[in-house]
Amino acid sequence: MIGDRAGAQGRTRLRASEVRISYWQHRAEEPFVAVDGVSLEVIEGEFVSIVGPSGCGKTTFLNAVDGLIPISGGSLELDGRPVRGPGRDRAMVFQQPSLLPWRSVLRNITYGLELEGRRSRAEIKEAGLRYLSLVGLDGFANVYPGQLSGGMQQRVNLARALATDPEMLLLDEPFASLDAQTREFMQLELLRIWRQSRKTALFITHDIKEAIYLADRVVVFTARPGRVKEVVPVPLPRPRELRVKRDPRFIEIEDRVWNCIEQEAAAAMAGGRSA
Ligand SMILES: Nc1ncnc2c1ncn2[C@@H]1O[C@H](COP(=O)(O)OP(=O)(O)O)[C@@H](O)[C@H]1O
Ligand SMILES: [Mg+2]
Repeated sequence: MIGDRAGAQGRTRLRASEVRISYWQHRAEEPFVAVDGVSLEVIEGEFVSIVGPSGCGKTTFLNAVDGLIPISGGSLELDGRPVRGPGRDRAMVFQQPSLLPWRSVLRNITYGLELEGRRSRAEIKEAGLRYLSLVGLDGFANVYPGQLSGGMQQRVNLARALATDPEMLLLDEPFASLDAQTREFMQLELLRIWRQSRKTALFITHDIKEAIYLADRVVVFTARPGRVKEVVPVPLPRPRELRVKRDPRFIEIEDRVWNCIEQEAAAAMAGGRSA
């Protein structure tokens, strides 16, 4: 499957093939199947959004890509190698900023670099300041997380994920706890940062406009057990301003994604897809 991103090199970064993920629940006789048969390819530098009904296995899938949980069927490869655990090539951004409150903003950003222990203190500080600047927080290096707004904390979180220079960014509803205006602003910022850092991005959201605005392709998951119902390309030019959300072509894409989701919601309600 080829992405629609102009200029993308076309090298496959992530290849999921018929991925199945189950959880063993206490005293259950059978495993609980959260994801069943997800096939998806993401190419280098591509931005892919995943949407789907609540509980369909989006977070489960992302955690598997991050190497935090094993798959129980199919195959999951990064750059042609099976995912066996977490690695420096990936970084996750969660919904809650999860910053360390006793560390300054700068030292939150450099935490991963300090753990790696491969660079001198001066190099680490310099890298930290660079990422601080990239997320638009120049001047906030010595402030503590508790002194920042939710949007600023989420920027620090993003800077922290970028600081270890991963090849792939995994974002699990990172803007879900922000107010509507901050959220829109963060979307704009994320695209700017993504353009500069050239990462491959896999982004989960409940917000369909957000999914489309950011992505080269929107992947719609079915109700649980999740698999890919449809992949909707977003051939809108970049860079994108927020007003593209009112463009008739955008609205057409939005209709298409909504239709898919509505069918899934109806299927889930009808009980047609309980595992
Ligand atoms: N650690 C776990 N143990 C057992 N079941 C889980 C666990 N995590 C998630 N689940 C179940 O797996 C399904 C998918 O969850 P999740 O991946 O969080 O969905 P989504 O992110 O799409 O809302 C849900 O039914 C959820 O209850
Ligand atoms: Mg989730």
